[in-house]
Amino acid sequence: MKRIFSNKEIVLGVTGSIAAYKACEIASRLVEYGARVLPVLTESAAELVGPASFEAITGRRAITGMFEPLQNPEIEHIAVATRAHLFLIAPATANVIAKAAHGIADDWLTTTLLATKAPILFAPAMNCNMYTHPATQENIKTLAGRGCRFVGPEEGRLACGFSGIGRMIDPATIIEACVPLLAPKKELAGKRVLITSGANHEPIDPVRFIGNRSSGKMGRAIALEALARGAEVTIISGPSEARMPWGATVISVGSAGEMAQAVEREAPKADVIIGAAAVADYTVANPAADKIKRDQETLTLTLVQNPDIIAGAGAKKRPGQFVVGFAAETENVIPNAIAKLKRKNLDLIVANLIGTSDSGFGTDTISASLITPDRHIEDLPLVTKDELANHLFNHIVAALA
Ligand SMILES: Cc1cc2nc3c(=O)[nH]c(=O)nc-3n(C[C@H](O)[C@H](O)[C@H](O)COP(=O)(O)O)c2cc1C
Repeated sequence: MKRIFSNKEIVLGVTGSIAAYKACEIASRLVEYGARVLPVLTESAAELVGPASFEAITGRRAITGMFEPLQNPEIEHIAVATRAHLFLIAPATANVIAKAAHGIADDWLTTTLLATKAPILFAPAMNCNMYTHPATQENIKTLAGRGCRFVGPEEGRLACGFSGIGRMIDPATIIEACVPLLAPKKELAGKRVLITSGANHEPIDPVRFIGNRSSGKMGRAIALEALARGAEVTIISGPSEARMPWGATVISVGSAGEMAQAVEREAPKADVIIGAAAVADYTVANPAADKIKRDQETLTLTLVQNPDIIAGAGAKKRPGQFVVGFAAETENVIPNAIAKLKRKNLDLIVANLIGTSDSGFGTDTISASLITPDRHIEDLPLVTKDELANHLFNHIVAALA
């Protein structure tokens, strides 16, 4: 994330919604990721949340009026419109959406929105009747037709006491939605990337399962990187603690059998298939229909082998399709990974050491090697999972080219 946001000039337009206070968290996260954030508050926003909060967070003077920038050419609206990498309007009122759709320029924010060629992302926040009103829906359609992007809103309890669609989506998701708009490389535009992620739960009875420690963090990092490079991303996710990124299509599954079926269905459409899930090798032969009682001294479960999902994708690979596997090993990492690469007809394998405190399931860092069929090995020292995803796609993009 830091790589994408670092040194980017982001205009954060805050408008007069009750959710305006949440924009402080958005500003704070953007600053944490290294972005230069210029806060711009409409008159109504400034009634609801103080500019001083944004100034403290961003270290920049917040713009609150049309004519104040005249004293400071650095924040003159055309200069900012030209310099910005992104305009993020969060929260976006029904009013600002309407004004932007109709080219109204009666304050600093809407004037600058007209003058910019930078990407514009709206995070709407309003009462559900305001959001579903045909006027608002038409305005959103008009702006989307001109290339503006929208993230959210979501359904839930609204500050006005209503329940329905209109609540601003959470700040973390808003930040993720910025990623494809800021990333410089779009080499995967028009390409479909299919990722398996997370663990599998193999049922023992209706309440128990056999699982593994996969957190889904690696799958999430890969999906974010693919989205950043412009790909259309589908994630087939087993149970996972990591939230899957905004902008990806997520197919949730439980067991390896369900994951295999989903891959079978989705794989033919994909240009790149990446098996980052920790697929269960075995499943319970006869899961009990009712909860197993604690009435026996010992209990024996018979396990049978699950389908090898990534080997299946490798076997059915069509020309031009690129298949990547992961080999999580506790010993003989490289030889085991090379054997898997060959046996499963893969184009690349990520061999990674698991079971240490900083590399493996649930960690944010990983120690890995990328291995190609011609045995070229790129050893990565301990890197973040985001960095590994970046290296992985450098390989994939070069290979596809
Ligand atoms: C307490 C309060 C909360 C409001 N919350 C919202 C809201 O969530 N969404 C919205 O579209 N308008 C909301 N409004 C109405 C807007 O503030 C009003 O339409 C205003 O003209 C918006 O101006 P702006 O778009 O320039 O910020 C709220 C008004 C008040 C007084």
